[in-house]
Amino acid sequence: MTLLVTGGAGFIGGNFVLDWLASADEPVVNLDKLTYAGNLDSLRSLQGDARHIFVQGDIGDRALLGELLAKYQPRAIINFAAESHVDRSIHGPGDFVQTNVVGTFNLLEAARAYWSELKDDAKRSFRFLHVSTDEVYGTLSESDPPFAETNRYEPNSPYSASKAASDHLVRAWHHTYGLPVLTTNCSNNYGPYHFPEKLIPLVLLNALKGKPLPIYGDGQQIRDWLYVKDHCSAIRRVLEAGQLGETYNVGGWNEKANLDVVKTICALLDELQPRADGQSYADQITFVQDRPGHDRRYAIDARKLEVDLGWRPAETFDSGIRKTVAWYLANQDWVENVTSGAYREWVATQYGAKT
Ligand code: NAD
Ligand code: TYD
Repeated sequence: MTLLVTGGAGFIGGNFVLDWLASADEPVVNLDKLTYAGNLDSLRSLQGDARHIFVQGDIGDRALLGELLAKYQPRAIINFAAESHVDRSIHGPGDFVQTNVVGTFNLLEAARAYWSELKDDAKRSFRFLHVSTDEVYGTLSESDPPFAETNRYEPNSPYSASKAASDHLVRAWHHTYGLPVLTTNCSNNYGPYHFPEKLIPLVLLNALKGKPLPIYGDGQQIRDWLYVKDHCSAIRRVLEAGQLGETYNVGGWNEKANLDVVKTICALLDELQPRADGQSYADQITFVQDRPGHDRRYAIDARKLEVDLGWRPAETFDSGIRKTVAWYLANQDWVENVTSGAYREWVATQYGAKT
């Protein structure tokens, strides 16, 4: 038995592959285009491990997909591959449509061709698990209940619109062709191997370099943070026991305002690696221009996953963020490697001289 994972050199996919191979001997074929966000350094511990087969390629490449499916005969495809950064989607939405919409379409078509030729048990047990986001549901006011699976799709950014489109394709491939699909819609992840242009790793990195910590707008936007390893365990559970055609919201029950997240990171750094001048890292907080169309609040109602499949996150925000800060402090070599040319160019485009 084998899994085909796409986007497994990215933040969540990479954590998923590492966690999977830490607890199972089932091989993983990892198809990743290695965009700016793909980083094989995160998978360094798997070098020479025959259970990890890395293939550089695009989920939009039907010929390659056909070859991989025929060769490795996976029992499941888990689709992490995506363009995933809202700010980048504002500057250049084209790649988001190409990978998230057209790429997912091609992956679905390749999966359908493969699955329709499978026999008996292999056909019955095959799964296509699509990893998506809570951002497809749009934004909440302070008093709205958290997003449930029954919420309307109201995406507001090019990123969330492209993910919403991919979710619709996945749904339609189930209803029309019977493809055995599962979809997960997850809140903001954080943890090891997070590319340092997202809020938490960016703030950690800037703090240690003595740079400003950029807070968009008033910093009161709320996100529902989930430790990445909890996301991985949720995906494993849905893969194992999810009902075909269903969607599952995955969240951490950890709603936090951005400013509070940044202050928490500063307090942890003050404790674990104090500034040489004895001042707090919080002094580096700087308010910058808000993101256009910035969603105010995301929050996930993850009760369906708990009631139907018995999953709950293991980490609180306090325990998860402490682990994350400690991981970054202990893995400065990974950070140095990832802060390559593409990353530096992005920081210049997005923040100009501010950082
Ligand atoms: P990421 O940007 O860190 O990684 C994406 C990976 O996909 C990279 O390794 C990249 O090289 C690869 N990729 C991009 N285009 C590709 C293509 N055309 N073909 C093959 N590979 C390609 O993203 P992430 O944070 O790990 O997110 C993974 C998935 O989870 C995405 O689908 C994202 O929408 C979803 N998600 C992310 C979060 C979050 O907080 N990060 C929350 C909810 C859902
Ligand atoms: P981000 O990590 O980009 O995730 P998403 O946009 O998918 O939620 O951003 C998390 C929150 O932090 C979001 O409300 C935007 C905000 N933010 C800042 O205030 N400053 C920053 O430099 C970044 C990157 C994000």
